[in-house]
Amino acid sequence: MKQILIINGPNLNLLGKREPTIYGSQTFEEYFQTLQSLFSDVELHYFQSNHEGALIDKIHEVGFTFDGIVLNAGAYTHTSVAIADALSAVTTPAVEVHISNVHAREAFRHHSYLSSRVKGVIVGLGLKGYELAVRYFL
Ligand code: DQA
Repeated sequence: MKQILIINGPNLNLLGKREPTIYGSQTFEEYFQTLQSLFSDVELHYFQSNHEGALIDKIHEVGFTFDGIVLNAGAYTHTSVAIADALSAVTTPAVEVHISNVHAREAFRHHSYLSSRVKGVIVGLGLKGYELAVRYFL
């Protein structure tokens, strides 16, 4: 069975409550159950943290054994050289996901430190982006 980890960064624990006009009204825990039933032949894991170092530790932990990482690093996308370096340090390929279309939002969201370290980027397709990213690894 393929092992794939979905990582969500800061404030994404509030999905469902947080700015629903931008991020929708479904919690990630609920959506994750849908994903698990869609991909019953995949060992799908989920990790969320609001802390940069915890995200890096998790990338290190799975980054030499898992088949794929689906990463929405939230605002750290736009600030974190350290997460970019973690992605370069490991061998597991990653796909970057953003729920909202970051390119249609504030200018500071247009740049990602992570995009050059991942296989591809999915933006603006809502939670569906996670499903598409998982499919990439199958
Ligand atoms: C986000 C976009 C980021 O700019 C923002 O800081 C987030 C969520 C998204 O999924 O659309 O926290 O990564």
